[in-house]
Order: sequence, then structure tokens, then C-alpha cells
Amino acid sequence: MHFSLYPFIFSLLPLFLFLVFLLKWLSITTRPPRKNPPPSPMIQRENVVGIPLQRDSIKALILDIFAAGTDTTSTTIEWVMTELLKHPQAMKKLQAEVRLIVHSNQPVTEDDLDQMLYLKAVIKETLRLHPPIPIIVPRESTKDVQVKGYDIAAGTRVLVNAWAIGQDPASWDEPEEFRPERFLNGRSIDFRGHDFELIPFGAGRRGCPGIQFAAVVDELAVANLFHKFDFALPDGVELDVSEVAG
Ligand code: HEM
Repeated sequence: MHFSLYPFIFSLLPLFLFLVFLLKWLSITTRPPRKNPPPSPMIQRENVVGIPLQRDSIKALILDIFAAGTDTTSTTIEWVMTELLKHPQAMKKLQAEVRLIVHSNQPVTEDDLDQMLYLKAVIKETLRLHPPIPIIVPRESTKDVQVKGYDIAAGTRVLVNAWAIGQDPASWDEPEEFRPERFLNGRSIDFRGHDFELIPFGAGRRGCPGIQFAAVVDELAVANLFHKFDFALPDGVELDVSEVAG
């Protein structure tokens, strides 16, 4: 398959999933009520979770997962592919790792991922440079505080710029360079919200609840793509990936 089809296919994936979900949702909401509805599951009947878990809240939850989980995941994979195309040495290193661990006629499975340290470093480096949600969900200060000499009054809306944090020269050497090795040589920085230099999934109680799932899905997709295919730009073609606002 020609390389340029991939970004196109990835960019259509969220739209496709959203349309499938919308059609399903419309068919559920417009359906006339059944005469004999099936008994509600125990988790609803006995209010196991302590809050009413009705049809509407389940639908809202599913919509939340689709809205928060599709575009973020596909954008990450697109940026991994872009950075590796721009850095063929890093692509070769990743392919060497993945192909050493998994035989050529086998798919990469979840069980193989633990051994793929360079793969994890590539994904971390991509999320450092290109967090899909550059400014994470707004917070509000609950009391008056002082941060680095600035007074922040209670009730102030605080916007945290995860993109700028990932590019801060105070935390990162040559921050604009794509260098996955920075995560392998002694620095055990992770994106799970404990290291504030790298917060593509946010941090604290409002941090991304899909982080575990997203990490595995991204790793599996990238590992399988680079296990099976060699990607390269056509001769003489340079990728212009300058970012613009909006
Ligand atoms: C690479 C993939 C992903 C990235 C970078 C990402 C990033 C984020 C970020 C930055 C937030 C806001 C966190 C904060 O403000 O502290 C968030 C929230 C959220 N994410 Fe993700 N996410 C990803 C994938 C997913 C997936 C796969 C799911 C679901 C299966 C998901 C579900 C959610 C939900 C439901 C919220 C809202 C949480 C709330 O309102 O408290 N995310 N995500």
C-alpha cells in the first residue's frame, strides 16, 4: 500500500467510529419502548455503584469514551509515523527491536509489549512533542495560593499548557529534537501524571482515565505497523509538519 494512504485512513477513523456510534444511538433513542422490557442488570437494580446507573447515564458514558478516546489515539499514531518518517534511524531501531522479539509471520500481541522498551520511548517522545490535548482540561483554584511569586485568587480558572511543559528547556535538553533515547538513558520519566515535566494525559484526580487502554492500543498499533512494513518518503520529498493554531 502506498504510504500516503495511512494518514488519510487514520484521519477518517474517528469520523467513522463517531458515525457508527451516532446511528446506533439514534436507533436506540427513537425505538418505541418495549412492552416487556428485560429485567435490569443487578448493577442497576441494586445501585451497586452508589449513583443511579440508568440508560441515559450509560449512553453519556459511552459518548464520553468515544469523544475522548478516538481522536487522541489516532492523532498519537499519526505523529509517531510522521516523526519516524522524518527520523529513519529511529525507525530502523524500532523495527530491529520489534522484529527481534516477534517472528516475522506472527502478529505482535499485548504479551510482547513489556519487552519493547524503545517502542515505549518512541511513544513517550511523540507525546512530549505532540500532546493531542495541548491545553488540558481547565482547573479552578479552590483557595488563594501563591505560585512562583504570583498571587492566584480562589476561583481562578487555571489553564495548564502540557505542550509548553514538554518543550521547556529547564526540563529537557534540546527540547525541539525528536530523541526517544532520552527516556532510556537513566531518566525514568513516565506520562502517568507523577512526573510533571511530561503530562500528555493530565495529572491528578481529573487525569485521563483511559491512559492504560490508550498506552496499550498505541503501542500495539505502532508495533504491528513497523513489524510488518518498511515506510519511507518518496525520493526528494520533505515532510512539512509546521504546526499552526486552530
Ligand atoms: C493517546 C491517547 C490519549 C491522550 C493523550 C489523552 C489525554 C487526556 C487528557 C489530557 C485528559 C484531561 C486530563 C486532565 O485534565 O488532567 C483526558 C481526559 C479524559 N480521557 Fe483521555 N486521552 C487519551 C486516550 C483516552 C482513551 C482511549 C479514553 C477512553 C477509552 C480516554 C478517556 C478520557 C476521559 C473520559 C476523559 C475525561 C475525564 C474527566 O472528565 O475527568 N482517553 N484525556
